[in-house]
This record gives sequence, C-alpha cells and structure tokens, in this order.
Amino acid sequence: MVGTPTISVAMVLVVLALMSYGLPSAHADVAFISNTCKKTKNPALCEDVLSYHENSTQASTVHELASIALEIATAIAKFNSKNFGVGARYNQGTPVEDALDVCLQAYDDAIDNLKVLAKHSLHVGDYADALRKVLDAKAAGDVCDNALKRIKEDFAVESDRKMTERCGVTAELIGLLIHK
Ligand SMILES: *[C@@H]1O[C@H](CO)[C@@H](O)[C@H](O)[C@H]1NC(C)=O
Repeated sequence: MVGTPTISVAMVLVVLALMSYGLPSAHADVAFISNTCKKTKNPALCEDVLSYHENSTQASTVHELASIALEIATAIAKFNSKNFGVGARYNQGTPVEDALDVCLQAYDDAIDNLKVLAKHSLHVGDYADALRKVLDAKAAGDVCDNALKRIKEDFAVESDRKMTERCGVTAELIGLLIHK
C-alpha cells in the first residue's frame, strides 16, 4: 500500500487539471448567456428560464440559445397538456372538465406550434414565422387561465404563468435574431 498516497496525489492533480481546463470555458458560456439575456426585457427571467436546460451553457450563438429556449417552452407545454388531460378525465361530466378541456386543447395546439412549426421555421432561418408561432403558443397560458377563472379554479395559474414566461423568453431571443 506504499504506492497509494502517490496514486491519490496523481488523481487529485488530474482532477485539478481537468477542472482548471473546464472552468474558463464554462465561465465564458455563462457570460454569453448573461450578455444575451441583458438584451431582453427581463434578464433575470431569461437566465432563470435558460437554466432549465443542461446544455444552455454550451451555446455560443443566439440561435442556439433560442433553440434551447424553444425546447424548454415545448417541455412545459407538454407537461401542462398531460396534467390538464389527467385532470379532465378525473373531473368527467363536471364544469371543471369543460374548462380543463379548453386548457388541453389550447396546450395541444401550443405543442404543435412549438414542437413542429416554430422549430422548423427557426431551423430554416424564417425567424419572423418562428416568432409568430411562439406567440400563438404563448396565448395558451391566457386562454387556459381565463377558462379556469370562470369556474374559480386557480390551481393552474402557476403552470400557465410558466408557459407564458417561457414562451415570452423564447420569443424575445428569436426577436434578437430578427433585429440583428
Ligand atoms: C445535451 O447535449 C448532448 C450532446 O450533444 C445531447 O446528447 C443531449 O441529449 C442534450 N441534452 C438535452 C436535454 O437535449
């Protein structure tokens, strides 16, 4: 076991070398996110939204950040759609079901707008169309919120707010590509 301390020291040095190799680029990428988000209306929200994706620190262009934000918005739309679908089945035959069906429909349309249409337009560089599709999807939050308010259900407010925020950040990042 005489060799063990030597191996440990060697391993520590390797780990340190890897860390110091990794750190500068990680910092640069965080700076890129923060500099890009500073160009949006709510930089703190923009950074917060982008932190929901493991790959946002690897992005080096606004286009990549916009694509990542679009994935984040798509994920919340899918999540909400699933939850409202379950809720609608659970409340079958009641006014709550009617409201939840409105939400479900709104979020399913939003998924189509985000996952298929906006993604394609962003990919081919038609930023104006991508922006339109993301703003269409963003409306799902309000549509659902209003349907639920009519029956005094407020449990969905939080998930609708997240949808509105994430689509809003995505729209702003795409907007940066248009006004470049
Ligand atoms: C992050 O990037 C890696 C490598 O490109 C990829 O395999 C992984 O699926 C990405 N993660 C997400 C959540 O997209």
